[in-house]
Amino acid sequence: MKKIFVVISLLIVNQIFSQELYKEKYRPQFHFTPQTNWCNDPNGLVYFNREYHLFYQSNPFGNQWGHMSWSHSVSKDLLHWQHLPVALKEENGIMMFSGSAVIDEKNTSGFGKDAMVAIYTGHTDTLQTQNIAFSNDAGRTFTKFNNNPVLNLHQKDFRDPNVFWYQKNNCWIMSVSHPNEHQIEFYQSGDLKNWKSLSLFGPAGDTSAVWECPDLMQVSIEGTKEKKWVLFTSQNSTMQYFVGEFDGTKFINENRSKIFKQDFGTDYYAAIAYHNTPDKNPISIGWLNNWNYANSIPTSPWKSAMSLPRKLSLKKINGEWILIQNSLQNLKSLRVSSKSFTTKIVSKQADIDFHGNVFEAEILFIPSTTGESGIKLAVGNNHFLKISYDAANQQMIIDRSQTNSSFNKIFASINTSSAKIPLHNGKLKWHIYFDKSIVEIFVNDGEAVFTTQIFPEENENNIQLFSNNGNTKFDHITFWNLKSIW
Ligand code: FRU
Repeated sequence: MKKIFVVISLLIVNQIFSQELYKEKYRPQFHFTPQTNWCNDPNGLVYFNREYHLFYQSNPFGNQWGHMSWSHSVSKDLLHWQHLPVALKEENGIMMFSGSAVIDEKNTSGFGKDAMVAIYTGHTDTLQTQNIAFSNDAGRTFTKFNNNPVLNLHQKDFRDPNVFWYQKNNCWIMSVSHPNEHQIEFYQSGDLKNWKSLSLFGPAGDTSAVWECPDLMQVSIEGTKEKKWVLFTSQNSTMQYFVGEFDGTKFINENRSKIFKQDFGTDYYAAIAYHNTPDKNPISIGWLNNWNYANSIPTSPWKSAMSLPRKLSLKKINGEWILIQNSLQNLKSLRVSSKSFTTKIVSKQADIDFHGNVFEAEILFIPSTTGESGIKLAVGNNHFLKISYDAANQQMIIDRSQTNSSFNKIFASINTSSAKIPLHNGKLKWHIYFDKSIVEIFVNDGEAVFTTQIFPEENENNIQLFSNNGNTKFDHITFWNLKSIW
């Protein structure tokens, strides 16, 4: 009897605790965040037994980077998450750096049919090696392989292995980064334990910072049954992608004219994808923070969020392969109420009769051809986030210089992001997700995405349209209040 009472009391306390946990200032309501403590890169994204596994870099002991381990959550719909115990812990002074996970359907490793195998970097100050661990209970517990490391080049920087099953050659392929050389090395294995080098890709594209977190996958071309190979890398605070072919040995880049970015905002990094989704179309998740100030953002008791899961596809635009990213349809189930506005001509400024800090918006408009136009969010106390289009220069700009940045000088200095975005028949379409301290903007049905963090007060929740020179015609605007996933 006493035992039952204790268990019920604990359940109630836990309930109260977790309810309060997701009500803190700045706490995202429909983006993934850990209950407490620091997190960075998503790791080991894998689908198994109708569960999406999200492992991620975490510090189980605090709200700053350190003691890197793999924390673990699962989801049935990529929307609602259940937190599970830490899956892979720092041990014997070796941290668990980023990596991937696969389901060994054919038991190539001998760890058991359908074993979940995590491939991660073991990190010390002087050495990074590739290691494996396996689970026979759907990722609930892992055993580190007793013959680790499985790949050791005796190098200080050699990390972030990403593995998939390559059907054509009946083998595993690993992409792994040589950060300082701006190179990705491809390896092949029949059993996840013995790895043979195949080729190197790079330097190419953006080499302004160390390369991390490679991910190679096949992505569908919109409107066809064809697929192309896409290679992603992360460098300091932005990501790039290359599109081309993988012939079983090497990757051949066909997108060479410029740097292709996965996200044009300030806060999107280290994204990797679920490769083995039910329909085999990859869905990626990125870390929403920026190493230049990541430890200093003013959130507690957690630090950092994950992006909305993004469906990936490709489209050829002006002779180049462009990555198309869109949010998942089931996000619509969070909509609780809406407000729509039809044709609004704005010259100068117009207040919108909708207020909020957890919402979604769709905006279709014809920007003024002579000036800057767009929308201001989180308006109040002389603060606002400005999302605009400069038609003369075909530039879309996210400017957070007028938001609270008192907590960190570097955050304050990295305050705008922009990209060249051509109009479609003179129009621009924005699909905005605003979640307390996160703003994700999908442009023109996913042709570009901007992700940024801001830290407004609760009452900085007004919204304004503006057009600083000439008229801007807002054809259609809809706002939805969204409910929490927690
Ligand atoms: C990328 C990264 C990885 C590394 C991990 C450490 O954000 O630097 O290269 O494995 O974070 O936490």
